[in-house]
Amino acid sequence: MKPISAILRPCFGLVLMSVLLLPQVGKAVEVETADDIQFYTLKNANGMTVRITNYGAIIMSIVVPDREGNMADIALGYNDIASYTNAVDKPYFGAVVGRYGNRIAKGKFTIDDQEYSLAINNPPNSLHGGIIGFDKVIWNGSVDDETNAVTLSYLAKDGEEGYPGNLNCSVTYRLTDENAIEIDYLATTDKATPINLTQHTYFNLKGEGEGTILGHELMINARRFTPVDETLIPTGKTPAVQGTPFDFTTAKPIGRDIAAENEQLKFGGGYDHNWVLDKGGQTGEMTLAATVYEPKTGRVLEVSTTEPGLQFYCGNFLDGRLTGKSGKSYVHRGGFCLETQHYPDSPNQPNFPSTILKPDDEYATKTIFKFSTR
Ligand code: GLA
Repeated sequence: MKPISAILRPCFGLVLMSVLLLPQVGKAVEVETADDIQFYTLKNANGMTVRITNYGAIIMSIVVPDREGNMADIALGYNDIASYTNAVDKPYFGAVVGRYGNRIAKGKFTIDDQEYSLAINNPPNSLHGGIIGFDKVIWNGSVDDETNAVTLSYLAKDGEEGYPGNLNCSVTYRLTDENAIEIDYLATTDKATPINLTQHTYFNLKGEGEGTILGHELMINARRFTPVDETLIPTGKTPAVQGTPFDFTTAKPIGRDIAAENEQLKFGGGYDHNWVLDKGGQTGEMTLAATVYEPKTGRVLEVSTTEPGLQFYCGNFLDGRLTGKSGKSYVHRGGFCLETQHYPDSPNQPNFPSTILKPDDEYATKTIFKFSTR
């Protein structure tokens, strides 16, 4: 294996060259390098910025205005890579998770009569791609100043973390002047493999480190969800949310029903579940998945996706031990994730939409995080 520095230097050279050679029309993506890792800052016409690194394809910060025009960073995380790698707990802040985001029961699945075994890193299951998932590897970066985008690519080898097939994948982050982060995921493989890529940013629309997210008002465009067993593996059923704490069809504060007497909430330690998005019969089409409104600042986040599911996780495992980039501690439920995806454990659930990518097919999904104020 080549040392990381040997892989990154030529790639950084190209990036630097393209930044230097292109006319600087006020929109160039800023590229920095430190300890052989790249950092990219996307800016738009409104002064919104998004900082990304090729380590784990992590979104390190998202700076957006509130209704008075005050800017704040609303994404949990750190300023440097060492803080991500050395933290006492690694909750996937801002990362792309894969090869299979979410859980696979007992870390086992079968394709074409062959059984595969994954590391059990979330006993008794496999979570978010294994021990060294896509959140902990170095991606190859390239920038496109024309479209204000960064593309990160990664080749996951056949057998890596127990998954079959060489998987060539990329994620493109593009910042628009409509304050939207457009995320495109692409992948191809040379052997049939499960794949489920998602973005694991923790949002707090008040600002990172500004207490809990329980007062944020959430709408999820879903009338059904996938209840789980005590290990957070779906039972396979998709009951209606109506009349349960899982009903977010009309916006309500995240904290309103979170303490209700409910077995599912007990299993998740709060919300940590997948919703079956209402696609209006438009499988694979871009539709609205969720809207979040924070009353104090007026900030709004709209999530749209081509994916059929949405894992809403409200930071139940955060407990104040981690201190973020501005020195504030990340308290219990101090951030929420809206992970657009296929349903958990799909490789073992015949009734769920398939997550198996075959050679000759292309995996292509898209998710948009759009910010505004009210
Ligand atoms: C996902 C899972 C959660 C938890 C977080 C990371 O959202 O569903 O259970 O593992 O990632 O802490």
